[in-house]
Amino acid sequence: MTSVTELELERLPIQAAEFGDDPMPYLEQARRKHEWLAATELGYLVTGYRAIDDILRLDTKLKMPGEEIVDIMGAQGTGWGEFAIDQMLVSSGERHARLRGSVSAAFGPGNVKRMRPIMRDAISGILDDWAPKGAFDFANFARLFPVRVMFSLLGTPIDRLPPIMESLEIHGESFNLEVEKMPIIEEGYQRLWRFVDELIEERGRVGEKGDLLDTMIDANRRGQVSAKELRQLLILLFAAGFDTTKNLLILLMYSMLQHPELYRRCGDDLEYARKVVKEQLRFATPSNTMRIVTETFVYRDVVIPARTMLIFPLGISGRDPAVFSDPMRFDPDRPEGHQTEAFGRGMHLCLGKFLAVANVEEGIHQIARRITHPRLTGDVKWKLFPGVWGIKSLPIEFDPVP
Ligand code: HEM
Repeated sequence: MTSVTELELERLPIQAAEFGDDPMPYLEQARRKHEWLAATELGYLVTGYRAIDDILRLDTKLKMPGEEIVDIMGAQGTGWGEFAIDQMLVSSGERHARLRGSVSAAFGPGNVKRMRPIMRDAISGILDDWAPKGAFDFANFARLFPVRVMFSLLGTPIDRLPPIMESLEIHGESFNLEVEKMPIIEEGYQRLWRFVDELIEERGRVGEKGDLLDTMIDANRRGQVSAKELRQLLILLFAAGFDTTKNLLILLMYSMLQHPELYRRCGDDLEYARKVVKEQLRFATPSNTMRIVTETFVYRDVVIPARTMLIFPLGISGRDPAVFSDPMRFDPDRPEGHQTEAFGRGMHLCLGKFLAVANVEEGIHQIARRITHPRLTGDVKWKLFPGVWGIKSLPIEFDPVP
């Protein structure tokens, strides 16, 4: 057995812009030295699909960094700092079960299925405004869609969205660990706090509507969640429903620009669009995550000591050649039946995964019908890799269909 600290590993610059632009060559180089591990400036990167699958399930030996992130960001005493320590993703045991239990029913497959007409209405309304333009940055377009569905789920009028859009954007990037952005991160967080605070107060005035917000307020009244937890949960849901799904849709459009025939078929057939989304969930997805080891463990003869920081590149784990044949080929008909790691593993498995997948399926189906023959017209700009990864600018032109 060897300790991870004694292994000779490739050192990868995961916080560098070049890594976010194209992480695969770095990963391929790392795999030549070690099958499933690499070193980085933040901790050890678990590069293999199977190793991610196995290790991320060791919930009792791992924890999501909270205080550690606050230290890196110098965010002690800020509202965002409190969120980073308290949020559901960082909690465990009874507290995690209590928080998750207060909202989980709304995100089950049955409820999501009932929301599909809302998704269709939301995307079709946005396309009515945007498709006639003939050209735009797809990233600007995509940011409007999933958040509308989240607003609808929480019974929030859509005219409340524009003033908080930027704050959601900033919050989404806050876990990329860019220390110099801390003042605007806190400002954005305070704006989100005031927004959810007003929503709760307003609901008290106008009365119940029978939606998720009522369920959450009720959980607060019954003592299942505190007033602060209620507000933090709402911020988590708005933010999670905004940044990740939007980025998945943009990554998918980028894949479609390289596969016009598959894109055309997405417009013809929702069932085919679902297969394409499934393949995208293997190929490239937005969320990466980290854990701190709380109890030393051994995995495939490597000792991982307590206090080690592990980073899981979920966004590209589906391109592991040990599991997927010809992994760089985008093929919706590929035979492998492995589950995507895009939504994590273990107790923090994404709560919104059915909602996110349905959003993107409905989205790409309608987009492909109204935005035909899309062509790239400029540079693709990528986000940094840690945290929520993806494309921040995807300029396209196309032939609009009314
Ligand atoms: C493509 C879209 C999405 C992706 C790729 C994604 C990815 C993830 C991942 C990887 C995790 C686990 C993180 C970890 O274990 O460290 C997670 C957790 C979570 N996601 Fe998502 N997510 C998406 C959309 C959504 C949506 C639409 C919602 C709904 C509001 C949502 C709500 C959550 C929540 C609440 C958690 C925390 C669960 C817990 O701690 O038990 N996500 N997501």
